[in-house]
Amino acid sequence: MTTALPVPTLNVGPAGLTLEGVALADIAERFGTPTYVYSRAALTAAYEAYQQALGQRKALVCYAVKANSSLGILSVFARLGAGFDIVSGGELARVLAAGGDAGKVIFSGVGKTRDEMRYALEAGIGCFNVESAAELDRLNEVAASMGKRAPIAFRVNPDVNPNTHPYISTGLRSNKFGVAFTEALDLYRKAATLPHIEISGIDCHIGSQLLDPAPMAEATDKILGLVDKLASEGVKLDHIDLGGGLGIRYRDEEPPTPTEYLKPLLERFAGRDEALCFEPGRSLVGNAGLLLTRIEYLKPGVEKNFAIIDAAMNDLARPALYDAYHEIVAVAPRKLPTTRYEVVGPICESGDFLGHDRDLAVDTGDLLAILSAGAYGMTMSSNYNTRPRAAEVLVDGDTVHVIRERETLEHLLMGERPLP
Ligand code: LLP
Repeated sequence: MTTALPVPTLNVGPAGLTLEGVALADIAERFGTPTYVYSRAALTAAYEAYQQALGQRKALVCYAVKANSSLGILSVFARLGAGFDIVSGGELARVLAAGGDAGKVIFSGVGKTRDEMRYALEAGIGCFNVESAAELDRLNEVAASMGKRAPIAFRVNPDVNPNTHPYISTGLRSNKFGVAFTEALDLYRKAATLPHIEISGIDCHIGSQLLDPAPMAEATDKILGLVDKLASEGVKLDHIDLGGGLGIRYRDEEPPTPTEYLKPLLERFAGRDEALCFEPGRSLVGNAGLLLTRIEYLKPGVEKNFAIIDAAMNDLARPALYDAYHEIVAVAPRKLPTTRYEVVGPICESGDFLGHDRDLAVDTGDLLAILSAGAYGMTMSSNYNTRPRAAEVLVDGDTVHVIRERETLEHLLMGERPLP
């Protein structure tokens, strides 16, 4: 088992944990807790690992905005020249507000509304990943009403098993995503006849937290077979999008690096001239962020000891939702014998835990860092139990940027009113 911390820019110093040049204790002091803390250097390194793996190939990395859609994070990727994979009009608004290039946006998702289509066409996005025949018709109609042509790819379901958690596996025949492999050819033939549709590419995404490149390589073979068949019918695609899904280390997983993950895929692209596109989310942000929280109470129990912290399932839903493991470390461990704790939040549900059976040398009031929380942390947070959402800060060397202020009770009541 590897013992290094999964967040690459997190270090143990005399003042406890530091992220880049900043002590986590200082961040807690200045901005309070719970606070999501991200490292710009780690975000940049994760993005550059893809760029390096892709080398000189014509390729675009479209960051999957759903993993973390905060403007501060999006602006880091926009400045690095990334594209963006969005799944709603709201995410498009975020990308544009963060300075992203609309032409590098791809729009995925099974339920795009007419309004979302209009908004995306108006903005001039790069491609719609169409997920059904009905969506194709609707998009053609909407584009016609605007006198435009909508660039499309079909999201094709390659029906391979990604060997991941069933909730985040998306490329099986039984999933709601994409169009069936067996129907794809006919759909392309149909799309070629529609005056307001412009065929641009093909897309697939088989699941998330993938630790083995083999299922994706299998999917790529199937997709390339389809691309060649289309070419033989005169339908030439300009890009092939192989989705996201590369996993990260939360505990002792040993995910491939982008280079290792892309190697079998790039081999299959030797000599081809289509642009390649990827939609990574978790692998770009997951290990660039942590959730900083303080212990409110230690509560020894008959069977278990509880460390009750000021973060909860509303801040980080993954443990409660998927039984996901996140490493939890003391920001400044004490010279005490360790005690085994259930690390729990204040929410009135037994499912409100952040970690089971964690050995910690801590006291009341101490700070904890919940690691690998950069992806699907803030974006899946809620106001359950009328809890204001956490603040978010981005560390850049010795500088700390507040990229989202902590919500106040005023924010929470905004837009609501009691009966007159
Ligand atoms: N592209 C599409 C079409 C997707 O549906 C997703 C994720 C991605 C790209 C990005 O996948 P990634 O590189 O992050 O694996 N909430 C869950 C994960 C849900 C993933 C949904 N789709 C979690 O916390 O694990």
